[in-house]
Amino acid sequence: MHLAIVQTDPAFGEPAANVREALSLMEGTIADLFVLPELFNTGYNFTDPKEAALLAEPPTGPTFQALSGFAKKRNCFVVYGFAEKADVPFNAAALVGPQGLVGLYRKVHLYHKETTLFAPGDLGFPVFPLPFGNVGMMVCFDWLFPESARSLALRGADLIAHPSNLVMPHCPDAMVTRCLENRVFSATANRIGTEDRGGLSLSFIGKSEIVTPRGEILCRLGEREPGIAVREVDLMLSRRKSINEWNDLFRDRKPAQYERD
Ligand code: ACM
Repeated sequence: MHLAIVQTDPAFGEPAANVREALSLMEGTIADLFVLPELFNTGYNFTDPKEAALLAEPPTGPTFQALSGFAKKRNCFVVYGFAEKADVPFNAAALVGPQGLVGLYRKVHLYHKETTLFAPGDLGFPVFPLPFGNVGMMVCFDWLFPESARSLALRGADLIAHPSNLVMPHCPDAMVTRCLENRVFSATANRIGTEDRGGLSLSFIGKSEIVTPRGEILCRLGEREPGIAVREVDLMLSRRKSINEWNDLFRDRKPAQYERD
């Protein structure tokens, strides 16, 4: 299958323009699955909960309409991050395909001020079977909690689609370990640019990337430019958890010895 990561430069509070920017990057690329950044339609740096609530959309709102229209026209799938309307909104990711909405994920580990804007995710880490393999989602800061990727892998994910708005520098390298320790592919789609709002300036580090179950970085975009990269990958490679004659990544786990909550 052909896997694409889309790195955007959204303008805060301009969902229609941001969706257009993403679609214009996607139009010239053939892929089976496109992964877009976290909150790619709204921007990230909300000053207060009212702003987040105002820009939140239902899962079948205008952003869904635009991207599911693309998925239908191109017979492909798209993962994207958006603020999901609810009493307290969720920082969510949607997986859409030619038939419409396939699945939702709600960010479990909220970062920084997000804890004042969003409700923590309550859907766990679901995995969705697609024609080319099983896809699960996590969002940005979830990378720092190995339980996120492990939960997805234990549920059978072959690929972790990872919409992000990274500000700390460590994630692109850390995803190599997440992929190695779970023998899965990852597609981290990050944004670039700076948002200076309400006395808080945040700069986003780009470096969107695709990583293999062997920890190889198949492609990594730059720190300053929007862009798109596509690679052909065989997601079935994620099903081989054997390390050598004696070791298997999952069989050798020792849950009885691990810390319990
Ligand atoms: C983040 O979770 N957006 C850093």
